Amino acid sequence: MKSRETGAGEYLHKMKAFRILKEPVIKQVLESLTLPARSKGLDVGCGDGYYTLMLVENAGPGSNVTGIDVTDPFLDQGRALSSKFNLTERVSFIKGDIEDLRFEKNTFDWVFSIDCVELFTQDPVSMCKKLAAMIKPGGSLFILNLSSQQLLPGYHVLEARLNATSSGMAPFAPGMKPDLHGLRSLGWLQNAGFVNLSAATYVRDVTSPFSDDIREGLLNLFEMRWGRNNPESSKKDQLEYKRLCRGDSPDCILDIPGYYGFFTYSLFQGSKLSKDE
Ligand SMILES: C[S@@+](CC[C@H](N)C(=O)[O-])C[C@H]1O[C@@H](n2cnc3c(N)ncnc32)[C@H](O)[C@@H]1O
Repeated sequence: MKSRETGAGEYLHKMKAFRILKEPVIKQVLESLTLPARSKGLDVGCGDGYYTLMLVENAGPGSNVTGIDVTDPFLDQGRALSSKFNLTERVSFIKGDIEDLRFEKNTFDWVFSIDCVELFTQDPVSMCKKLAAMIKPGGSLFILNLSSQQLLPGYHVLEARLNATSSGMAPFAPGMKPDLHGLRSLGWLQNAGFVNLSAATYVRDVTSPFSDDIREGLLNLFEMRWGRNNPESSKKDQLEYKRLCRGDSPDCILDIPGYYGFFTYSLFQGSKLSKDE
């Protein structure tokens, strides 16, 4: 059996390998919004803290961000990164469970979740309500998640079946309630009492020829999305997945001439009512 530390090490490796693809799209998202100057933010499920640092950069001088995560080795990485970039005064990492956050009411100007709340809570509306309590009146909650992909050109039926049976990053497991899907995030915000709601989708295109790093990032994305066998997935689909999505397969789809694929991130945001609303 794998130890928790080994599991975290592998996950960290995947997060880092995927970064070359994810970072440009997160950058696009952050360019589309300006976090308030001199603000106080919370990054829930901050992982290794890489994007926490991008958030504090966006918010500018005088701002500070707390990254919170359940996994110690990720928090250690975050601390090392903030020290490398001389940001320890403005970024802190603390261990905590999103289901049991212990911040005072009205502490933060904004809360960000990147690939977190939609994956790790069974009751997203209550989660958003709990986060709302920690946000100051007029402050914002942002939920950003990997929302779709078209990565197997010419194999759309297979891709749809892999998506439908995947237990990966966006589970569509049998019995899963439709309102737990990440694309329902705007409804969660609305039901939790947020106002000024908006949603927008950002695309990351990938075209060949690409560097080894991009290739590695795509292979990791395939694995994160579809790599875990699910009993719902047929043997035939699993074999096709291996034939097309493994880097050592002679038929790896990334080697077709003129490969093109894309994935999307969707940002959902809402504001907490200000006192006079
Ligand atoms: C897909 S990763 C995303 C990490 C980071 N936000 C990023 O975009 O790179 C999900 C993160 O949520 C964390 N996580 C999972 N369950 C959690 C919980 N109950 N409370 C806080 N963090 C949690 C995991 O440890 C992991 O770092």
